[in-house]
Amino acid sequence: MGATARISNGICLDINPEGCKRLVVEQIEAMKRSPALQKGPRSVLILGSSGGYGLSSRIVAAFGCQAPTLGVSLERSPCEKRLGSPGFYNNAAFDEAAQQAGLKAVTLQGDAFSDATKQLVVEAAREHAFEPFDLVVYSLASPVRTDPVTGTVYRTTIKPIGKPTTGLTINLTNGQLKELSLPQATEEEVIGTIKVMGGEDWLLWLKKLQQEGLLAPNVKTVAYSYIGPVMTNDIYRSGSLGRAKAHLEATAHDLNALLKPMGGSAFVAVCKALVTRASSVIPAMPLYIAALFRVMKDMGLHEDCFAQMNRLFRERLYGEGPVAVDNDGRIRMDDWELRQDVQEKVTEIYKKVTNENVWSLVDFDGYQNDFLALHGL
Ligand SMILES: NC(=O)c1ccc[n+]([C@@H]2O[C@H](COP(=O)([O-])OP(=O)(O)OC[C@H]3O[C@@H](n4cnc5c(N)ncnc54)[C@H](O)[C@@H]3O)[C@@H](O)[C@H]2O)c1
Repeated sequence: MGATARISNGICLDINPEGCKRLVVEQIEAMKRSPALQKGPRSVLILGSSGGYGLSSRIVAAFGCQAPTLGVSLERSPCEKRLGSPGFYNNAAFDEAAQQAGLKAVTLQGDAFSDATKQLVVEAAREHAFEPFDLVVYSLASPVRTDPVTGTVYRTTIKPIGKPTTGLTINLTNGQLKELSLPQATEEEVIGTIKVMGGEDWLLWLKKLQQEGLLAPNVKTVAYSYIGPVMTNDIYRSGSLGRAKAHLEATAHDLNALLKPMGGSAFVAVCKALVTRASSVIPAMPLYIAALFRVMKDMGLHEDCFAQMNRLFRERLYGEGPVAVDNDGRIRMDDWELRQDVQEKVTEIYKKVTNENVWSLVDFDGYQNDFLALHGL
């Protein structure tokens, strides 16, 4: 790894703006090399557009479908004393490339949970003459949300429910295994996590856009979720964050009821575990992702955020026939991750891994490179 990168609790303190730009341009180039999409959206709002799955969704919509895009994210602008956050430079790189390609792109910074930002988006959509949106991507991952009605501040907590748990992860600075031990979440922490990462705000967005006449008759909206394997179950899916994801998934049903009269539909896409700024702070994820990368790369099944979103648009949201969903109505982009043969191999790694063999058994380099690349390093 870059010998000088400073990492603390899954957060990298260094950043290289030029490197951030390079990563965005690489995704755009990959999109241009990909066969043209036969169908796609014509006017797109992306909430959480500056990194990870949201940024890749925007790149596929803009450079794959030639759609005008309005992106919203919460990033730190640079100031005299320090650089901005990576997403600030990602946004700038996207805007520059879109402008060069003659694609309409408007990027707003603001707290997407607030009424003020919702109003700002409505005004920007009118000012820049966006057609009513026929795709709204909800890709927020946040540690905190202020309820717009009560002003109460809620926080995301990532803990198991019902009992404490232990687990194994990998220390990003030295590549050594680390035992984790997490206390169970309090009821208040579970409620807070649902408030931030559940579907309440997604529903508020769609209601607001509908009231303002900014949804096209056949609008689609999609939010991203995660399920994962047995080894992350206590910490993720059965834990406080998983409860929020279950709420997000249930909200898709409410949204379907809201949008059905106008021919619209709502989806949750369950995506693959990947290295993003949000996922790197989830306990136990680094070891699982490094093991998963080893297996999926060896089997020729590996995808990054861009490949996941390219497949989502091409084969699911805008594929032939009705959108393929599971029994709970979810689009399963984690179909390859959760394949039985993939998970059997990951389980084998977990049985064997020690500090002596960890570097040969898991793709620590791959994990670390992706992590540093998020910061342009
Ligand atoms: N990374 C994974 O492994 C993974 C897997 C499956 C699903 N997901 C889901 O995908 C979604 C996106 O996560 P990601 O991993 O791409 O994260 P990310 O950290 O790369 O992106 C999060 C985005 O949310 C924006 N954001 C955060 N708070 C905001 C606020 N208050 N107002 C406006 N914008 C705000 C950030 O600016 C950023 O654009 C999340 O719902 C996450 O749970 C992620």
